[in-house]
Amino acid sequence: MLGLLLLQVLASCHWLGHSKVETPFGSCNQFFYARVPPNNALNPKNPAWICQHFRNSYHYATLYDRDRRIPVYSAYKYRPRSTEKPPEWWMVEPQLIDEKVDLEDMGRESDLIAQHHFTLEQIEESQAVLDDYKGLKDLDLGCLNPSGHMESRESKMATFSLTNVVPQDSVLHKGQWNIYESKTMPQQTKDCTITYVITGAVPGSTDIAEGRVNRPSHIWSAACCLVGTKPTSAWGAIAENDKNQVENLSLGKLEERLTELYGGPVTLFDNACPRQ
Ligand SMILES: *[C@@H]1O[C@H](CO)[C@@H](O)[C@H](O)[C@H]1NC(C)=O
Repeated sequence: MLGLLLLQVLASCHWLGHSKVETPFGSCNQFFYARVPPNNALNPKNPAWICQHFRNSYHYATLYDRDRRIPVYSAYKYRPRSTEKPPEWWMVEPQLIDEKVDLEDMGRESDLIAQHHFTLEQIEESQAVLDDYKGLKDLDLGCLNPSGHMESRESKMATFSLTNVVPQDSVLHKGQWNIYESKTMPQQTKDCTITYVITGAVPGSTDIAEGRVNRPSHIWSAACCLVGTKPTSAWGAIAENDKNQVENLSLGKLEERLTELYGGPVTLFDNACPRQ
């Protein structure tokens, strides 16, 4: 009896120690400036807070919308580095299948099925899978946290989780959004010691994969730049997900736009990040 009790205690501690889909961002609030995530106005009805874990570390944080099977946003520290392109292994999140599953890392669908005895049906039920993105015309897999903004090979690989992906207009993805990620961001962050980024997608009224996955109406991104430890500037960008156009705007203006789009007062960063 005592043995059984001890076993239960051990099992639950073990589970706590390894949990990664958490409320809200327990193990990975370091990816938000001052450890403050956006306010609740962005929360969907059925959220999952994912600390994106891959090969022994946390790489970024994602708020996931279980009903629409797309991320609400991904949050990360901007550390761009161009290295050899990592393998594009698209992965899924086992803890969306079952929060108690003792498997920290994201993994490829085939590996979860072959090595961890999940079924494809279980994975499909809990999240978007690669099949949902097959044969799409005019839409790409758009990573909210792009691999180019990550430093190490492991953190670049970790961006290829489908929990970090939305159906994004192909022309926007390869065009102006890519310019924002690869040209505007390096310019704006020239003098920053560290830059915190939150990139999100506003749910749209259309979908793909026979209604399984929402097609967002807008993609947006916000950044807060620190010089030393002090936030000195912040900015935002937003694009409609069917036009090759990105609008630059202040953090304050972006929050106003998102407040209209989400229907509630949106705060993305801690108050210390300049709104002007
Ligand atoms: C947005 O700002 C960046 C950096 O200041 C600039 O290079 C870019 O042309 C601007 N884009 C638009 C659409 O105004």
